[in-house]
Amino acid sequence: MNALELLREAEAALWAAKTPAEVEALRVKYLGAKGVLTAMLKELGKLPAAERPAAGKDLNEAKGRIAAMVAQAGARLASADLDRRMKNETCDVTLSGRAVPIGRLHPLTQVMREIVDIFARMGFDVAEGPEIEFEDYNFEKLNIPKHHPARDMQATFFINDDVVLRTHTSPVQIRTMLEKKPPVKIVAPGKVYRCDSDISHTPMFHQVEGLLVDRGVSFSDLKGTLMAFVHAFYGPRTKTRFRPSYFPFTEPSAEVDIECVTCRGAGCRSCKGSGWTEILGSGMVHPQVLKNVGYDPEMYTGFAFGMGVERIARLRYGIDDLRRFFENDVRFLRQF
Ligand code: PHE
Repeated sequence: MNALELLREAEAALWAAKTPAEVEALRVKYLGAKGVLTAMLKELGKLPAAERPAAGKDLNEAKGRIAAMVAQAGARLASADLDRRMKNETCDVTLSGRAVPIGRLHPLTQVMREIVDIFARMGFDVAEGPEIEFEDYNFEKLNIPKHHPARDMQATFFINDDVVLRTHTSPVQIRTMLEKKPPVKIVAPGKVYRCDSDISHTPMFHQVEGLLVDRGVSFSDLKGTLMAFVHAFYGPRTKTRFRPSYFPFTEPSAEVDIECVTCRGAGCRSCKGSGWTEILGSGMVHPQVLKNVGYDPEMYTGFAFGMGVERIARLRYGIDDLRRFFENDVRFLRQF
């Protein structure tokens, strides 16, 4: 094999090399101390003296060319390797990102705000009172004296003899009237507490109270206001009825029923066959209550109402078990 043949062979082998390790093996094979070129250089001495210089020159040239080709092959493979990594390790900017779940208002908060909004549009202000309340405001001033049987209706959490967890939002009526003179026109949303727990009762629940006191307020004002509310909240065709009832702090008193939203009045399990469901209690403010806060019942009359937010939300969304509202299962809450 002469220098030219060696050069061709090395060139082909280096082009075929696919990894840096293969290139290195070829370098050792051709240029290494025990490599082909070294061996061929050693053979020079066996040539006739006249041929030696030319053959030596050819071999040295071949050596230089092969070294250059080895370097070139190394560079070629390195850049191919870079191409491959660029392809595999890219970040695909067109991939859609990971959604961060955003929170939302609790269904009860949503319903409570909606109720309050409807009354706010009718000109009612929003009032609030404490959840830990004087027994005097929760009962006494609302015309529910000690030992009155009506106290039984409201299983009370007592803090001590004079302080309770409010059992309804009606004490906000008292606080509002003690604070200002008529006209009074407020709604009071908030939490209330009763010692009760089953599928339709939770020890804490929400009410929205309403109170309007002024000169010449009549039962028809109460009716008109509540009808406007029902139509705004449940739709203008919702049938409504006022049913006589009893509350110590209103006289006369009425409960408001709407046609059962599940069966549209036909009678079903959720309305216990009656076709109606109760949504709130109401009535004309009892003259004794007006006196208790220093209002003159000869001059002023008023109406009041109180509704349970859970009950209203439950009717709207068809929720069987009230306790769902407080289990904080996100699969439930996400639906609203
Ligand atoms: N406070 C009553 C209850 O919790 C509801 C009510 C409020 C009734 C105002 C009449 C007037 O049951």
